[in-house]
Amino acid sequence: MDGKLKICMVSPELSPFAKVGGLGDCVASLSKFIAKLGHEVKIILPKYSSIALPTNVIEHLQPLIINMGYDIEYGKIWEIKEKNLSTYFIEFDRYFKRDGIYSDLHRDYGDNYERFAFLARAAIDLCYHLEWIPHVIHGHDWTTGLIPVMLDTIERQRSMGRCGFLFTIHNLQHHGYAPKSILDFLGIPHHVFRADGVEAFSQVNMMKAGLYFASKLTTVSETYSREIQTPEFGFGLDPVLKFRAGDLIGIRNGIDEHLWSPETDSLLPAKFSIKNMEGKAICKKKLQKYCNFSIHKNIPLLGVISRLYEQKGLDVFANILPNLLKNSPLQVVLLGNGDRDLEFRFTQIAKEYHKRCFVHIGFQEALSHLIEAGSDFFLMPSRFEPCGLNQMYSMRYGTLPIARATGGLVDTIENFSEKEKTGTGFLFQDLADSALYNSIHLACSLYRDHPEIIGAMRRRAMERDFSWSTSAKQYVAVYNWAKKY
Ligand code: ADP
Ligand code: GLC
Repeated sequence: MDGKLKICMVSPELSPFAKVGGLGDCVASLSKFIAKLGHEVKIILPKYSSIALPTNVIEHLQPLIINMGYDIEYGKIWEIKEKNLSTYFIEFDRYFKRDGIYSDLHRDYGDNYERFAFLARAAIDLCYHLEWIPHVIHGHDWTTGLIPVMLDTIERQRSMGRCGFLFTIHNLQHHGYAPKSILDFLGIPHHVFRADGVEAFSQVNMMKAGLYFASKLTTVSETYSREIQTPEFGFGLDPVLKFRAGDLIGIRNGIDEHLWSPETDSLLPAKFSIKNMEGKAICKKKLQKYCNFSIHKNIPLLGVISRLYEQKGLDVFANILPNLLKNSPLQVVLLGNGDRDLEFRFTQIAKEYHKRCFVHIGFQEALSHLIEAGSDFFLMPSRFEPCGLNQMYSMRYGTLPIARATGGLVDTIENFSEKEKTGTGFLFQDLADSALYNSIHLACSLYRDHPEIIGAMRRRAMERDFSWSTSAKQYVAVYNWAKKY
């Protein structure tokens, strides 16, 4: 194929091997799609202990030599090969022989900056090892922010200095602070330690490093690409994003329709489609049974699947949930984990209202599919949401999202209009108890009094195209924009 690109993805997460949130899904499905378009993709991630490698994995016998600033280290490489797509797992016990990706049992590893700085160096050295110079290294979030700094300094006169670097911001909240000594750890000269470089508050800010040194920047929705240029959403980095606005574009994530489609989803008790929705009723029944709820098709069922962190706005949901359960005949199922206080609050509410509220604290892939399919509504009251995948999954399954109007939620959900009788979900503006309450109340009233409106919204939601086809082509255009040779 003419114009075939060589793309190296570097990411701390990759579904199904290592996933905390949407980043893992996004990198996996985007990579597949780019490979399907005929480009050559290699993905590099750590081999955490929790990863069970499949039987077709190839063990590289030659060790990977990693050129740290202080010395040489040796790593081990495992590879999974598919058409146009290879996935490399880097085994290195000191940093990756741990079950968690960033944390264990709610506690962040204290050396995350060092672990991922190591990954950044190992990724460049793996390319040398493979004698493969990508056109573009595509790094995701702060963990990869020091790669372009190396490309622009110590690698500049070497072959890898020819690579372009595309930096995708999935979440601007996490910066990755490191002591200045991280530069010596990687052998990076100190002249980059300045305010218009990697320095912030006398430390190295790995996110800022990526923003300054990347060839081009993307983020995961158009609205978020504008929001992060404002103080409200910029987490202190809005001036840098404004400065680089000419190199920044928003590309909405797609979803992997092989894994997330009600027509083919093997994790569901019954499949369904717009033409035949009977399977959805079976999924709802199964979900109600799982939660020990009364099995009733006319009670609206509201699902939540989320990391339980401030970003997701679920503290506000916890405020209103007892009243909501008292005043409205709805059932609520929540799957999530994260902040201990929030976990505790939801668990207490579920104890008190166990007939209509079920909470599962933990991470469960199969249950997440059943919730997407078996619920009537799906809640995402996010404070900010760079893209969000769950609202797209839920619309594919005819489950209408109720979401705060921010970031990717605005770009993917068409708000219900009473006048036009249109929409694919319900958007509200203010993250306040009353706005959230009213939005859920409106959805439930329509469900009860106007099932025909809900039915039409469902069909519209299921018809929406959330595939990667358009977005992956935009990425290819950006790769061509970012490449240097
Ligand atoms: P974020 O990446 O900010 O967490 P997204 O909506 O982009 O938000 O993606 C979240 C992904 O993680 C979805 O695939 C969702 O189903 C999954 N997820 C989150 N929490 C859980 C959980 N507790 N169990 C199973 N899947 C979860
Ligand atoms: C981040 C964001 C989420 C986005 C995901 C994948 O975790 O919080 O909005 O969908 O990355 O890009």
